[in-house]
Amino acid sequence: MNWNRDKYKWCRPISNLEDKIRMGDAVAEYAKNGQTIGVGTGSSSYVGLTRLALRGLDITVIPAASEIRLACAALGIPTATLEESRPDWCFDGADEVAANGDVIKGRGGGLLGEKLIIASSPRRILLADSTKLVERAGERFPVPVELLPEALELVRENIARLGATEIELRMAVNKDGAIITERGNVLLDCRFGRIYPGLERDIKALPGVVESGLFQDYGFEVIS
Ligand code: A5P
Repeated sequence: MNWNRDKYKWCRPISNLEDKIRMGDAVAEYAKNGQTIGVGTGSSSYVGLTRLALRGLDITVIPAASEIRLACAALGIPTATLEESRPDWCFDGADEVAANGDVIKGRGGGLLGEKLIIASSPRRILLADSTKLVERAGERFPVPVELLPEALELVRENIARLGATEIELRMAVNKDGAIITERGNVLLDCRFGRIYPGLERDIKALPGVVESGLFQDYGFEVIS
């Protein structure tokens, strides 16, 4: 028996919708019957998912976050977890895609699920309209870092040693206090004077850090 559910809607108005529909149609063409596809979060991923659904293929999606899992349920697309399956390929949005391939993600707080799916996928496609293309990573967005709540001060101190000049605990909207991620962690938004090769690895090595929204050397294919 099916739920009598409301149509799922993205949580806010979608900017550059025409571009996102065009990129979504392009990425939907990659899909084949029988595939398992990892899908990130954010509005570009959501629009891509809705375009994919229009193809009516027999696919399974591994969603990076709860909003995409809910969208799959509303669109009638079966889902799986990374424990159950490995994605044949994945697609996701981005906050910044730099000329040297560095990528920043995590504006919406979904960076941990996204990184797990991207790292698990042999083929990784980013939907990045022209507003996301930058000369150097960090031009507009800070690097989000997800960490265990009790490690807040330790990580703050150690991130500064890696060259972060501004470090802010991400605060919630419509909730008092900090954002608590889907995994029960908090986020620091960190601006670096320079995002150097290997910074992602250095951040990850800090005690208390769970993951960062910096992606270096992932070999993304970019649809723009
Ligand atoms: C979610 O935390 C992010 O990594 C998104 O993938 C990224 O912010 C892009 O979002 P939009 O597609 O909404 O711009």
